[in-house]
Amino acid sequence: MINRPRRLRGSDTLRKAVRETRMSADSLILPLFIKEGKNIKQEIQSLPNQFHYSPDMVGQAIEEALKNGVKAVLLFGLPENKDEFGTEAFNENGVLQKGIHEIKKNYPEMYVITDVCMCEYTSHGHCGILNGEQVDNDKTLPYLAKIALSHVKAGADMVAPSDMMDGRISAIRMTLDQNGFSDTPIMSYSVKYASAFYGPFREAACSAPAFGNRKGYQMDYHNSREAIKEALLDASEGADILMVKPALSYLDIIKAVKEQTHLPIAAYSVSGEYAMIKAAAGQGLIDEYNVMCESAVSIYRAGADILISYYAKEIAAAIKRGDIG
Ligand code: PBG
Repeated sequence: MINRPRRLRGSDTLRKAVRETRMSADSLILPLFIKEGKNIKQEIQSLPNQFHYSPDMVGQAIEEALKNGVKAVLLFGLPENKDEFGTEAFNENGVLQKGIHEIKKNYPEMYVITDVCMCEYTSHGHCGILNGEQVDNDKTLPYLAKIALSHVKAGADMVAPSDMMDGRISAIRMTLDQNGFSDTPIMSYSVKYASAFYGPFREAACSAPAFGNRKGYQMDYHNSREAIKEALLDASEGADILMVKPALSYLDIIKAVKEQTHLPIAAYSVSGEYAMIKAAAGQGLIDEYNVMCESAVSIYRAGADILISYYAKEIAAAIKRGDIG
């Protein structure tokens, strides 16, 4: 026998030397939920070990992230008041805007990305302006642009629209440019499927739709060519980073989008993926740490350049320890 693949598996040093997938904490993003109020640090029931923070308390989360080597966060806001038009989303004293101020004032080195969407802010829980029971695409666009602009004015370093309206990257890009923010990048949730894996998030963000579902705007999970269509459209509208979401059931999509575009690819390992690992580990059925490591590596192996994960701090620690990456 001349060929013995096992030769390269003989020691930890050699196995690490020939790893095909390399990871760095530099490419990790931690999602954080900012809730209106004061003195709040409250564990989220559907997402064990994730918390709601009020703007005055979010510094704690930022410090822990930085300590672990996580240099970027993705912020979601939970306003006290909601209305039909999601007015709080673009209030310059809104909860997210306050959170951004607070973070950038005390931790200017933390890179702040904001989720641009309306579902946490609308009374009906849909991601835009309604016309009957449908989300009206073109009426929603100016609102999304206004929301993105208010985040950037508050100090956000990057915006990440997650609504899945057609043409929103153009609308946001144009508004940012006209207001002197032509250097602010857009990470587009380009390929976002209508997924049951968002369940725990919707509880965490109080953003479940009051009626119907999001299948009229988020993608059908039977499709992969449509993912390329969405990705290329967003690239042509000026997106700087393309996101695929969810991640674990969509590794084929990450790979396909990576092959078809020249932009960096972000993958969002969503709330349901995190909750499944937590729940199974909680019952003693799987080893949480090792399953987390294996899942994270698989997403990079598929082609992700950036990983958004509720485990970002723990993954960063695993990379530092040399267990992965
Ligand atoms: C807002 C948004 C959602 C997620 C990110 N941004 C929920 C949704 O589309 O219903 C889900 C994130 C997660 O599940 O971790 N539209």
